[in-house]
Amino acid sequence: MQQEALQEITAADTLEALQAVKTKYVGKKGLITQQLGGLGQLPPEERKARGAEINVVRQAIQAALDEKEGTLKRAALDAKLRSEAVDVTLPGLGLPSGGLHPITRVYDDLIGIYRQMGYAVVEGPEVEEEHYNFEALNVPWYHPARDLQDTFWLEDGRLLRTHTSPMQIRYMVDHEPPLKIVVRGKVYRYEATDATHESMFHQLEGLVVGEGISMADLKGTIAEMARGLYGPSAKVRFQPSYYPFVEPGADFAVYWDNPRGESKWLELGGCGMVHPNVFKAVDDLREQAGKDRIYEGMTGFAFGLGPERIAMLKYGIPDIRYFYANDPKVMGQFRGELG
Ligand code: PHE
Repeated sequence: MQQEALQEITAADTLEALQAVKTKYVGKKGLITQQLGGLGQLPPEERKARGAEINVVRQAIQAALDEKEGTLKRAALDAKLRSEAVDVTLPGLGLPSGGLHPITRVYDDLIGIYRQMGYAVVEGPEVEEEHYNFEALNVPWYHPARDLQDTFWLEDGRLLRTHTSPMQIRYMVDHEPPLKIVVRGKVYRYEATDATHESMFHQLEGLVVGEGISMADLKGTIAEMARGLYGPSAKVRFQPSYYPFVEPGADFAVYWDNPRGESKWLELGGCGMVHPNVFKAVDDLREQAGKDRIYEGMTGFAFGLGPERIAMLKYGIPDIRYFYANDPKVMGQFRGELG
């Protein structure tokens, strides 16, 4: 039995095979264990000699098992280390660089233009109070924009802002005129998505308040932005439109000599002169906070636009959903170029 066992141990070339041999001979129901169990049937005078004999065999097998186990484990470790070894003669691996998201780039362009015109850049909360998103902006309860369909409501009565305009209110409550700000940030609308609609998108909001601000200032500002984005050939067009928080209100579009020969009017956003009810709502909030009423009688203009539209055209991105799908085949094209 000892000879057979030693042969099987020599032949075992994996730890699993060795374990099987171990079980066969010295396991709980192994051959050696069975032999020891049989001692009881021998006459007492034979037991001692027979027991000693079996033990010698058991020790020989156990020693061979231990030695082979050590050999196999060392071999396994060697193989692992070899496979993980570093070939120091190989050239280094370049780290792939990241890049700025197309929306970030468009924001950078826009904000650069407005900084040059002396605007402060601010941000505000995406979870907003109903009062700031609607009431204070002269959006009455019966206005269609208040429809449950368009707004993501939170259980506590707050909402995800549907535009960046509530920051007009927040900023005026905290600051005194004259002021010039642009607000950047995400907005949310509860609507079906398609190539030009997403439930989350971005806006750039502008607000200028002071004495004697006119529609001419608004038009000049939008024209300056258009030239900053598209060069001296850029033209702007204003069409009457309705937003409850401005009067008069307009939509504006930009036209320029597009090098790809795709010149057409690009509808960019809405704008208008700040509605007196907005100034009144700001003064009401200021009064509640123990501040002076200083906005009634002021003049100002506001505008809001979507960087997605600019980015889609600038980078030839056909579907707004690509911006947020994080597909490396799309976003990978913006790698490395920082701006
Ligand atoms: N808040 C408007 C919107 O989201 C855009 C806008 C801003 C219009 C400022 C006029 C003045 O559609």
